[in-house]
Amino acid sequence: MTVTHDSTGAMPSDDLLTRAQGDPLRPAWHFTSPAGWLNDPNGVCTWQGRHHLFYQYNPEGAFHHRIQWGHAVSDDFLHWTDLPIALEPSDGPDVDGCWSGVLVASEPPALVYSGRHGDQELPCVAWATDDQLVGWRKSSHNPVVATRPAGLDATAFRDHCVWREGDQWRMLVGTGIRGVGGCAWLFASTDLENWDDLGPMVVGDCTGDVEALDWTGTMWECVDLFHLGDGALGEASGADVLVFSAWDEGRTLHPLYLVGRYQDGRFTAKEVHRLDLGRRHAYAPQSYLAPDGRRILWCWMQEARTDEQMLEAGWCGAMAVPRALTLVDGRIAQAPVRELAALRTDHQAVITDQVPLGGELPIDLAGTQLDLELDMAIADEGGLSLTLFGAPDGERATVLRLGPIDDDALQVVLDRAGSTTRPGIDTSPLSGVAPVLDGRIALRVLLDRSSVEVFCNGVSLTARVEPSEGDDHIRLTGQGVVLERLDAWRLSSTEEKGRVLRP
Ligand code: FRU
Repeated sequence: MTVTHDSTGAMPSDDLLTRAQGDPLRPAWHFTSPAGWLNDPNGVCTWQGRHHLFYQYNPEGAFHHRIQWGHAVSDDFLHWTDLPIALEPSDGPDVDGCWSGVLVASEPPALVYSGRHGDQELPCVAWATDDQLVGWRKSSHNPVVATRPAGLDATAFRDHCVWREGDQWRMLVGTGIRGVGGCAWLFASTDLENWDDLGPMVVGDCTGDVEALDWTGTMWECVDLFHLGDGALGEASGADVLVFSAWDEGRTLHPLYLVGRYQDGRFTAKEVHRLDLGRRHAYAPQSYLAPDGRRILWCWMQEARTDEQMLEAGWCGAMAVPRALTLVDGRIAQAPVRELAALRTDHQAVITDQVPLGGELPIDLAGTQLDLELDMAIADEGGLSLTLFGAPDGERATVLRLGPIDDDALQVVLDRAGSTTRPGIDTSPLSGVAPVLDGRIALRVLLDRSSVEVFCNGVSLTARVEPSEGDDHIRLTGQGVVLERLDAWRLSSTEEKGRVLRP
């Protein structure tokens, strides 16, 4: 998707809410805004035992304009209650939008965000005025970094990651050095309001193949630095990871991560990997360390619809299921948060014993809000094909295909070509590689009306589709596959009744 910032399409509130809530393809158990536009997750945290989600929000309509920070709270990551809008543009450095940022657990807590003025963004701060994180007072020192770093010919300069290092705060801002590559720029502060420029923490290389699925782009949006596994940031055990969203002149490409070592304000990258095989459908990830030790990741599921179709629908954008991250063989492995199991109903234990597949397996499964778990082993020449959102007459379907590459790797493809007959929908295939772990594959597939999330041995593929009414059949075909388990559950809807655009 190319984000434009001048679209207009404001609609009366009632109209927006009615359209949004009447759309049968609006996700039913994922977080969406009440109506209007949603993009990045911001300020994600668990605060006083409750999970908070702030997000890029335009309550005027399903277009990206004069962005505010929507806010919702939950006790279980599943059922959300809207809270008042946390940040709105006002005269000054954020007059044209309160763009992405993070919550800092300082005293008092702070939001560090990118204030948009004209066509540029600069770092801004707002301080909590209560301990529920409801009221926010913008700093009179905004923008707290007054200009882009001297001498930096930046492609853009925005989005933040803030952490404590010794007795100081550190902040990364996402940027790109023109003609060179994406970059995470480092700053230091004792009070979040006065920042010293520490220079580039790590710089990418944009000279490679611009079509490559791991091309790192000309700018890095939503930089997020953290440590996974044993130890802490900069320590030899575990791994330091920098997650970012590769961007190129308005094109939101895909989320990637660097694995390496952070030391003395510099990050030495050893590897780059794709964070999700669904490309822009899992964009702008932001993570945090929950009090129970889990690293929780949120990301924005962009639509497969056109800009016009989104405007018409009165809503767009949903959050992917929050995921817990672990380090497996030096890479990020993702799993939906365990809390999701609370939404499961109508359990069907479809396969409980080893079943060798040699064609279609007759199963009686249908649904558009489903949680499927499969365990299997695939032989060298084998392959599995799982039909999702299938039309009863077989005319339309989204097909997930798994096929071994070698003993250690598997090709994962989500074929959306036959998923819809509606014009304009993005039906491009999504694909990539997942590991085979000890000859085995653990597959989890989550469906929510127009979303598909696949977790294949910890590698995720997130996508959006546009099934027609009644396209709810699940079919399973395989060759050279030994299926050991297939469990299916229906997932309950979670949206609160009576949501309003400006709570
Ligand atoms: C990523 C992004 C951020 C920016 C925000 C604006 O999707 O473009 O870089 O801060 O969205 O809404």
